[in-house]
Amino acid sequence: MKLEALLRQVNAVLSVLMLALFLLHGVGNAFQFLDVGMPPGRGLAHALLAVCVVHALIGVWLTVLTLRAQRRAGAGYPRQNLRFWAVRASGLAIAAAIACHVLIFFRPASAPVRLAYFGPAQLAVSILLVASIAVHVLASAHPLMLSLGVRGPRARAADLVLVLAVLLALMAVGFVVYCVRWSVV
Ligand code: HEM
Ligand code: HEM
Repeated sequence: MKLEALLRQVNAVLSVLMLALFLLHGVGNAFQFLDVGMPPGRGLAHALLAVCVVHALIGVWLTVLTLRAQRRAGAGYPRQNLRFWAVRASGLAIAAAIACHVLIFFRPASAPVRLAYFGPAQLAVSILLVASIAVHVLASAHPLMLSLGVRGPRARAADLVLVLAVLLALMAVGFVVYCVRWSVV
């Protein structure tokens, strides 16, 4: 199998794993912001971060391979290019927002949960994180279903986007509630 095809397959599987970890971490913590349930744990958060870093590195590698191939072929596909750059631009925004996110929530292992200050600046970065993940998955849901070889890729991609939109909205609400709670303490 060609290296590029292999990387795409590995990245597709990693993306599914990351989506699962992200939903557990994001939804679990959103409920924490609303004082519901148990915290999902930092082990999960660190596993998510590790998979995300590997995914981003493979993404950069695939970008270089694709741009080289495009230059050799000398062909441009405007529609695919729009999607291509939407995935890259949102990926960059996610990376920046995650760096801020980890800085906001980092605490020593022995410290109590969620003592991090959360004001308007922290809220803005967190909404950027949620919004950039929404754009990223919206732009890459169809290619993901093609990479995974599922039946009816367009319909499955629409399902994924719909479910994720609801859960991302819940996470955004969680961040807003947490910010409001900080402003009244
Ligand atoms: C650290 C920031 C991130 C960067 C730099 C990044 C970058 C990329 C790139 C370049 C691709 C396209 C790979 C290709 O050419 O096939 C991609 C695909 C994808 N990304 Fe990300 N990503 C990031 C974070 C995330 C996060 C947090 C999620 C989900 C929660 C995610 C979900 C996906 C999915 C589902 C795909 C489609 C995979 C496929 O087509 O097989 N990414 N990402
Ligand atoms: C791909 C996206 C995300 C990544 C990679 C990520 C990663 C992390 C990491 C590594 C930590 C641990 C920081 C430490 O070492 O103490 C953390 C903590 C936290 N994250 Fe995320 N996160 C993401 C998205 C989210 C979302 C969407 C929410 C909210 C809905 C969220 C809520 C939290 C909270 C509340 C903590 C503190 C938990 C604690 O201290 O036990 N995260 N995150």
